[in-house]
Amino acid sequence: MRIFLLLFLLVTFFSCKTEEQPLIGPSPSEERGLIVSNAMVVSAREEASKIGLEILQNGGNAFDAMIATEMALAVVYPYAGNLGGGGFMVYRLQDGTTGALDYREEAPKLASRTMYQDSLGNVDPEKSRFGALAVGVPGTVAGIFAVHEKFGSLPLEEILDPVITLASKGFVVTRNQQNALEGHRDEFVKANNDTILFALDFKEGDTIKNVALAATLERLVRDGRKEFYEGETAKKIVAYLREKGGLISMGDLKAYEAKWRDPISFKYDDLKVISMSPPSSGGIVMGQIMRMIEPYPLDEYGHNSGKAIQVITEAERRAYADRSFYLGDPDYVDIPVKALLSKDYLEARMESFSLERATPSSSMDRGKVIGYESDETTHYSIVDKEGNAVSVTTTLNGAYGSKLYVEELGFFLNNEMDDFSAKPGVPNMFGLVGAEANAIEPGKRMLSSMTPTIVEKDGDLWMVLGSPGGSTIITSVMQTILNVAEYDMSMQAAVNAPRFHHQWLPDEILFEPNSFDQQVLNDLELKGYNINEGESRILGKVDAILVLPDGKLEGGADRRGDDSAAGF
Ligand code: GLY
Repeated sequence: MRIFLLLFLLVTFFSCKTEEQPLIGPSPSEERGLIVSNAMVVSAREEASKIGLEILQNGGNAFDAMIATEMALAVVYPYAGNLGGGGFMVYRLQDGTTGALDYREEAPKLASRTMYQDSLGNVDPEKSRFGALAVGVPGTVAGIFAVHEKFGSLPLEEILDPVITLASKGFVVTRNQQNALEGHRDEFVKANNDTILFALDFKEGDTIKNVALAATLERLVRDGRKEFYEGETAKKIVAYLREKGGLISMGDLKAYEAKWRDPISFKYDDLKVISMSPPSSGGIVMGQIMRMIEPYPLDEYGHNSGKAIQVITEAERRAYADRSFYLGDPDYVDIPVKALLSKDYLEARMESFSLERATPSSSMDRGKVIGYESDETTHYSIVDKEGNAVSVTTTLNGAYGSKLYVEELGFFLNNEMDDFSAKPGVPNMFGLVGAEANAIEPGKRMLSSMTPTIVEKDGDLWMVLGSPGGSTIITSVMQTILNVAEYDMSMQAAVNAPRFHHQWLPDEILFEPNSFDQQVLNDLELKGYNINEGESRILGKVDAILVLPDGKLEGGADRRGDDSAAGF
């Protein structure tokens, strides 16, 4: 009896201990993610998740952790983490209040509608993607200061202290990071006309110290937001861009403001989905797709079955066609949000759909486009022990943005201008076409696909998620929600599951290679769908948190990257 009691006490002691200790995980093969009782951060890098967690353990709330995680990603994951880019945050407070922050980049005052076109009206895509003309006025630093002012509970100095240490002591290069740096080295040298820190021959296991970025962060702590938008940092950004032929002025930086927005909310079965409003298309497009597919019995069709793929694809095709026409910066264009999400409109939109055959995108009266490039952005999800939730997607647009790196400041500058429509009907780097609503105008914010999302079930917090992946963000986020809601997957399994994507143009379904039943693909082809399994590009990289029925949190850290969940 005593032995049993001793064993019982030992087991109880160790299981409690494990719960309360910070945990890092999961390994990619596990179909259950990390499970903890109190609070969690899931992001693209272990170092960033751990720093966010440290803030939560030291009494900080989800917003303090957001600031620390955002800046830690700028240090350890310069591929997408940034000071020189922008992003969106959707939040839900413990009491159910929701809101959103737009810290998207905007066009400089000297930008013009035809700035990427030559005298014959031909678009030069290199100009909007690479080098100084591609750079939008950065919003990330304004974003973290706005978050701190409204919701911060710890001093900024305390929040940024571990980030500054990370930048000055350095972080270890992963295999994925080595590959990414090698793949972009020539572009770094070309854009900057010089070598830069990140063009050095770093190998997996090497340590990268970014003392310039540590110094920039120290100045932000000392002098506040103004340092970035009016001080030494501002002057250095403007001088560097001038030298490279850019348009951003001190006036552009000074005028920049992050904007609090109302998120988009819609119902799907017993869920309430809360996601990003314009200037991101994420919330509206996902809302349109989910409301178009809601009447169909997806669970009966089966996960990634031919019928389920057809229904989702046809809804995606219709929603992305609307995106290209209606959506842009709400401060510049009127967006018929209510109508676009209305049941009647969406039912009518699906009337032309039949399970017998594909609806060609050309019949929806838009031109054909081709071509993808690498794209990056990064997402992180946070829940604190009070139940406040934060969902943030942040980006430089392409990998390492414009490839311009301000050596003295320690960060890359975005190439977000490519998210504008350079000319109606001409695709951007994600193959997305736009029209008037997303034309370039001074001070305007370019349309995004970023979809930071929070889902409620029966009025309670249920899921926090988002993804990088350009135009595939919206469909990756949506499939992850469906995987849990319709197919009862765990959070980790839902994130790991193979994904597909359709965006109206090009008229093809992009499938993750070697992940789908060949018979299903053959049948789809027979019905007139164009199948693209050839792209090596990943479809999204989702980092998510699910509140389990017992109130514990399960992390879903995407197997497709170095992503990691940390919690206690
Ligand atoms: N730059 C990617 C997006 O905002 O959609």
